[in-house]
Amino acid sequence: PNPSEVSWLGTPINELKRMPECGKPLPPLKNVPGHHTVMIRTDLLQKDKVPVPYPTRFQDAWDDVHVKMPCSSRNLFPIEDEVKAQVFKTYFRCELRNAHENAMLKYSASHAKKWDFAALHLYCTKVNSIAIRPIPLLKAGMNHSITMSQEQVACLLANAFFCTFPRRNSRKTEYSNYPDINFFRLFEGSSAKKTEKLKTLMCYFNSVTEKMPTGLVTFTRKSLNKPPNWKSSQTPLTKLHITCEGTIEDDGYGMLQVDFANQFVGGGVTGSGLVQEEIRFLINPELIVSRLFTEALDHNECLIITGTQQYSKYTGYAQTYQWGGSRLDTTPSDGWQRRCTTIVAIDALQFRNFLEQFQPDRLNRELNKAYCGFACPEEKSQNLSAVATGNWGCGVFGGDTRLKALLQMLAAAEAGRDVAYFTFGDSQLMTDVHNMHSFLIQKNISVGKAYDLLGQYYSSECKNCLGRRPDVSLYSFIYQQVNSSLAPDDSNMGSARQ
Ligand code: AR6
Repeated sequence: PNPSEVSWLGTPINELKRMPECGKPLPPLKNVPGHHTVMIRTDLLQKDKVPVPYPTRFQDAWDDVHVKMPCSSRNLFPIEDEVKAQVFKTYFRCELRNAHENAMLKYSASHAKKWDFAALHLYCTKVNSIAIRPIPLLKAGMNHSITMSQEQVACLLANAFFCTFPRRNSRKTEYSNYPDINFFRLFEGSSAKKTEKLKTLMCYFNSVTEKMPTGLVTFTRKSLNKPPNWKSSQTPLTKLHITCEGTIEDDGYGMLQVDFANQFVGGGVTGSGLVQEEIRFLINPELIVSRLFTEALDHNECLIITGTQQYSKYTGYAQTYQWGGSRLDTTPSDGWQRRCTTIVAIDALQFRNFLEQFQPDRLNRELNKAYCGFACPEEKSQNLSAVATGNWGCGVFGGDTRLKALLQMLAAAEAGRDVAYFTFGDSQLMTDVHNMHSFLIQKNISVGKAYDLLGQYYSSECKNCLGRRPDVSLYSFIYQQVNSSLAPDDSNMGSARQ
């Protein structure tokens, strides 16, 4: 076939594993102190019914291990207690559209800078008492999950929209190491991008106010305590499907979908950012709630979110992004009433200088970050879905696609998962990565051996390189090294060699 017609290479995508088919049945959902905070009554959980919050009365906690809530009696914003205690839901439904009109559209760009939010606060604090238990902060180093209903998420997001979370409007508070949660930056400026972002979010609010979704969403912060010994790994590479068409979110359904994250999860979603991560957080807005409680990710950490729903379609990307109308998400649900959509937020390093990414400590960092996101040591490989990924760290963050593709293949192999790689239109990259993967498989190159080749590449081509880029590309170097080291070197054969 004409090479320009080839849209994918490697293993056919339908041979890669997806949830729910590949997964094992889940154990019963239960709250486990110190490990899993479940915010709903698990005993009353019923398919297609909005879950019942647990506890049924708001529990106030105003301390440094929980989210400070708008409805707390300790919130210094002057509102009477019984007003704070009003049930959020009913109010929310009827007032949201008015609020949209009044609060947002009337704040033109010129006014946005001057507002002090007092009116908006007053308006919203009334509406925000949520039957909710204290939400633990997912702090650096914690291994902890939070499961809440999509209804609770909607409540929290409505509050974020109205900017009611206390102590979250300035970077100088105890939340300085957390992402922004209040949406105030979305309302400032007059760029067309903001309008498209707001349309996408309003589509979500319209959808949940028309019909409240009945599922649950789990947010899991995970750290890698013991990184693999990359050098000594004998693990063979896993399967690769690579395509220059399609996207992680559309074609990677049921797989572990990579969010090309910022260490502050969601990146610029509530501000002006509009690339892979921000787009995903806009079309699946339930992801945005993670910003309420997820402290900046450390080098050995990731955040995994299961159960969010896609409410919008989109076209374009970055400057050309446009809301593309509402989308009915038909993803099946798992035993915990969560949509079988699992997204893993892993933040790549940002590189300003091309050579830097080949330094051994950077390679280790990226391998461990990806492995932290992909590994699930308690599961057997046969129960693990493939990783759906692409040019992680290679857009805004300036990484090299060929290096990052290889690093992700190694991390996925070590985690026992296959890979579906979306090159986002780059057919040369598709061919190059496919050829490299086939070559490594054909030559029986293990993860450890490939890792060693990366180290050799650094020492011989990067360390003493005077230019901005090495003279020999990574892939050419690997082909050369493997071919020469595997060539017969028996002295008897000497004459047969050139
Ligand atoms: N599916 C597959 N590939 C995609 C998709 C998609 N839906 N969207 C984009 N790509 P980038 P980074 C490809 O720049 O470099 C955010 O602000 C496309 O080739 O979003 O890791 C975060 O919050 C694109 O160039 O990721 C961080 O602050 C490439 O993926 C920062 O950006 C990289 O997308 C992370 O930057």
